Amino acid sequence: MSIIYGKRVRLRANERGDLKKFHEWVNDPEVTRGLALYLPMSMADEEKWFDAQRDPNEKPFAIEIRKGRVWKLIGNCGVFGIELTHRSGELGIMIGEKSEWDKGYGAEVMTLLLRHCFGTLNLNRAFLRVYADNVRAVRSYEKAGFVLEGRLREAVYKNGKYDDVLIMSVLRSEWASRSKEK
Ligand SMILES: CC(C)(COP(=O)(O)OP(=O)(O)OC[C@H]1O[C@@H](n2cnc3c(N)ncnc32)[C@H](O)[C@@H]1OP(=O)(O)O)[C@@H](O)C(=O)NCCC(=O)NCCS
Repeated sequence: MSIIYGKRVRLRANERGDLKKFHEWVNDPEVTRGLALYLPMSMADEEKWFDAQRDPNEKPFAIEIRKGRVWKLIGNCGVFGIELTHRSGELGIMIGEKSEWDKGYGAEVMTLLLRHCFGTLNLNRAFLRVYADNVRAVRSYEKAGFVLEGRLREAVYKNGKYDDVLIMSVLRSEWASRSKEK
């Protein structure tokens, strides 16, 4: 698999050297607010995650943005829980570099991941789960073409309160007609 290039973003394989940054980000309460993580993470936890045996199609990617002539690491993302029979997969993203939020990178990453899901992995449905109060994430996913599919009421206890978990998805047919329009 080669590097996946977008206009301003690229997705490459994670390297062990990225873990120091990941460790910093997964211990930042502002970053983890919208993530399933709720306990402090050690460097050993990160290394275990990096070394985990996975289906090769579920290889996580490092997110980099172009800064002049160099690429800067800002987060990670990936497709997981692929169901071969149903051709469905779940997407996840963390932009840990907070100074890069709200610049459209999240929407661009999800657009690249959708291209990867449908154009490379031959999936039929790409979905994600997002906490209802993570409005930045919901907006970013809408921009990438995700539609609200369902709401799991008070399905998560996070930040001292119950929150709904939203399921958002894109079907291959929707992605294909959206790609044709562009
Ligand atoms: C969620 C995340 C992926 C979004 O990526 P991003 O690059 O910051 O988002 P984008 O720039 O693509 O889109 C954000 C949108 O939300 C909007 N927004 C931000 N804060 C908002 C708020 N409080 N209310 C309403 N809209 C808001 C922005 O204005 C922007 O919309 P616009 O382009 O129409 O102006 C990224 O912020 C992140 O990784 N956060 C931490 C981890 C996380 O929550 N991951 C997602 C788990 S489901």
